[in-house]
Amino acid sequence: MLTEVTRRKTFAIISHPDAGKTTLTEKLLLYGGAIRLAGTVKGRKVNKYATSDWMEIEKQRGISVTSSVLNFDYNGYRINILDTPGHQDFSEDTYRTLTAADSAVMLIDGAKGVEEQTKKLFHVCRMRKIPIFTFVNKLDRYCKNPFDLMDEIEKTLGIRSCPVNWPIGEDGAYKGVYNRKLAQIELFESEGHGQKIITSHAGSVQDERFKSLLGEHIYNKLCEDIELLDMAGEEFDMQKVLSGELTPLFFGSAMTNFGVQPFLEEFISIAPSPGTRKHTDGFTAPEDSDFSGFVFKIQANMDLAHRDRIAFIRICSGKYEKGIEVHHTRTKKSVRLSQSQQFMAQERVFIEEAYAGDIIGVFDPGIFHIGDTLYGGKKSFNFEGIPMFPAEHFAYVSAKDASKRKQFLKGIQQIAEEGAIQVFKQPNIGVETLMIGVAGVLQFEVLEYRLKNEYHVDITMQVSPYVLARWLVTKKSPEEISVYSGSISVVEDQYQRPVMLFKDPWTLNKAVESNKDVAFLDIAPPVVK
Ligand code: G4P
Repeated sequence: MLTEVTRRKTFAIISHPDAGKTTLTEKLLLYGGAIRLAGTVKGRKVNKYATSDWMEIEKQRGISVTSSVLNFDYNGYRINILDTPGHQDFSEDTYRTLTAADSAVMLIDGAKGVEEQTKKLFHVCRMRKIPIFTFVNKLDRYCKNPFDLMDEIEKTLGIRSCPVNWPIGEDGAYKGVYNRKLAQIELFESEGHGQKIITSHAGSVQDERFKSLLGEHIYNKLCEDIELLDMAGEEFDMQKVLSGELTPLFFGSAMTNFGVQPFLEEFISIAPSPGTRKHTDGFTAPEDSDFSGFVFKIQANMDLAHRDRIAFIRICSGKYEKGIEVHHTRTKKSVRLSQSQQFMAQERVFIEEAYAGDIIGVFDPGIFHIGDTLYGGKKSFNFEGIPMFPAEHFAYVSAKDASKRKQFLKGIQQIAEEGAIQVFKQPNIGVETLMIGVAGVLQFEVLEYRLKNEYHVDITMQVSPYVLARWLVTKKSPEEISVYSGSISVVEDQYQRPVMLFKDPWTLNKAVESNKDVAFLDIAPPVVK
């Protein structure tokens, strides 16, 4: 069991759209022998065929809406990559996916630095205290000064970085990198695997061969940079990396393959294997013999022909074997897990066994919710919940044809169970209309599309002016909360928790200031059963 657990590396790649996540994922799959041709993972432009995108709308828009899980073997390791949607409108899905990861790779566009979406996702990794590895991409073209990038990472994200390799050159034009650990220079090469490697005879950057190869000017600059890093930079400290306080920093170029394989090899040697997980009754070690896991994602109708619903389970301990019977904490019932699948690009394969760290997709007849715990032993427990973040866009939605109300409600309920939308009850609007909240407006389009295509319901949608939501924790009744009049509304979410909606940050601040005895939470409190 321990051998199987320690050879597993389960991680997610986080980045701002266009930083090169698809390209990097694809190159990792190529090195793992999981695919043979570049360009098979996802078409980046509209109309290109998309293998990791299941839904028609993804193909139409050329974006990745849903996240998938990909796995392959490399040098004896089992790599599980949790793919996450790049588009910020689907960030909620990414947040949930991160709960299933043991580490994260933060991909940064070298010319753009730390962008908005990366910041958001980084903070979720921080909350989970998982190790973060940074890959600065697109080194083949103009990139910011690497010292400035280190500074930016520290200032905007509050994490110090420790460069594993370092760009050779100056003013944003680089020839390759110097690998500090292996004391070798790795130069761009247009053919082969994208790099020419020359190891230092001196065991350090001070090597006459480097000077003649790079020219005196660039060589001197490199020596100065490395000296500065050795003296003033953060030392590599495994403990700090594991606790998410220090990020190993790599420079490379996914498109040209440059630095991808060295990154992969270094990453799998440092990145943690599955660790212990906290739950309501203590901790579970991954090598424990009893099976345990939790549902972090539900996806319906991945295959319209079968109208199926798949629950993605992160295994936290023990071994999955086909047909295993487990307990379902929330319903206190036994469930048989048969027909579990793993995912490889577009293909799904049925699996016989899986271990802690693996992700399995099980057929869900409508019993699973996001965050549900499954366990095989005698002790009942719940893993820590999956954070639910407030929606940022709201709309009143109803079925165009009142006779389709039943399908409409069924569709809304199922899509809400997948976590793609949040449903609110508002006291003063008719029963035919629901208030729906989403993290990004594109999710409204997905909702409309899915209701039409999967549930055959056309809807009308009226955008509401609210932009901020906070869960209220208070002994006061909503009417007793003092607010700036007119700009708020109090609703109930699908778990009957009171939520206050605001039209602008000013009103929210005002409410927070005038109600010191009320907690305005931006992460949903636990559901009271
Ligand atoms: P994403 O999943 O993070 O959104 O990014 P994706 O991999 O789709 O890459 C976004 C763009 O950046 C693509 O260009 C891709 O080719 C380019 N790119 C990725 N890695 C590198 C790199 O190392 N160097 C350079 N120079 N470019 C890189 P595109 O023009 O949008 O698409 P395409 O025409 O190349 O398919």
